[in-house]
Amino acid sequence: MARMHIGILTGGGDCPGLNAVIRAATLALLDAGVRVSGIERGFMGLMRGRMRPLTAPDVVDILDQGGTILGTHNKADPFHDVGHGGADVSQRVLAFAREKALDAVVVIGGDGTMTIAHRLHQMGLPMLGVPKTIDNDLALTERTFGFDSAVAVVAEAIGRLRTTARAHGRVMIVETMGRYAGWIALEGGLAGGADAILIPEIGFDPQAVIARCQQRERGDDDDSPSARFADGSTVICVAEGAAPIGGSMTVAQRLDDSPDPIRLGGVGEHLRAMLEPHLRSEVRTTLLGHVQRGGHPTPFDRVLATRFGHAAAQMALRGQFGQMVALQADACVAVPLESVAGRTRCVPLDHPLVGAARSLGVCLGEP
Ligand code: F6P
Repeated sequence: MARMHIGILTGGGDCPGLNAVIRAATLALLDAGVRVSGIERGFMGLMRGRMRPLTAPDVVDILDQGGTILGTHNKADPFHDVGHGGADVSQRVLAFAREKALDAVVVIGGDGTMTIAHRLHQMGLPMLGVPKTIDNDLALTERTFGFDSAVAVVAEAIGRLRTTARAHGRVMIVETMGRYAGWIALEGGLAGGADAILIPEIGFDPQAVIARCQQRERGDDDDSPSARFADGSTVICVAEGAAPIGGSMTVAQRLDDSPDPIRLGGVGEHLRAMLEPHLRSEVRTTLLGHVQRGGHPTPFDRVLATRFGHAAAQMALRGQFGQMVALQADACVAVPLESVAGRTRCVPLDHPLVGAARSLGVCLGEP
């Protein structure tokens, strides 16, 4: 009987920990006698027939490497091939999988990747998902790997911004990624000790943020005892998807050839323009951008990615396809791909961290 043959691909935006999943899944599958192939640049590899064998020496040393040894693609969609006038090339993908005797594909990605995986699975190519994204916004899993690494970058940035903010008595705005969910800003802001945290789930009142900055600022001639001991600085952590009450999110770019065409970004600058006329302090904005996605995964993410990769391999060996590995109550479980596809997990307003932030006196922009 032919050996089982499993392909692995990484789809959508990269994040720290992808290589740790590839490593864990590959080593576990090889150990069980399975043939493993790496599909290059996400679904583009399936669409253009680019795949290479993965062996132990290929993966053994990649645990802490950022990025992905397989490459990724955020526009590759077999149901809409932009390189071929938007043609549906899904049948070609299935033919390629048959020709290479692929029994199944492990796809490591976010909601866009899971949506495509679900459709291919329905057409007869067995798929198995592993949840990645710095945004932590995938349905039915309490955590995605990559998130902890992004939070670490935000916390470090806030720590650095705080010292320079204090030196000048400035307001420092730091804008995080996260798309339509505020997880990165909320956890990064709390970990860095931000004075205000603005997330998409809570529309902010500019007056509330102005009032918080005014409470903290100190004028050059202000010699009252409380002012003498105040450093005058304010650090605001704002998620790229945050918006003022009644306003809309700030769109940086529209990429019409992408399955997810909206790129958010720039709310930090808008906020600066809203605050500055009302403050004596200078206001500066830092946009962290892709720094949050680069570099080594944190030890937490290395372990989570290893757990996910191992669990995916076990599911493949059991023939448990059409599922995604998920973390629930700190255990790796399987959830149906169809229940994840196209859904976003935002911060619930009654989340304990929202309550904790409020009780610490962190301004959430609420009126
Ligand atoms: O989904 C991950 C993410 O980094 C988001 O936080 C961000 O909005 C988006 O991807 C950026 O995408 P791109 O890398 O295409 O600019």
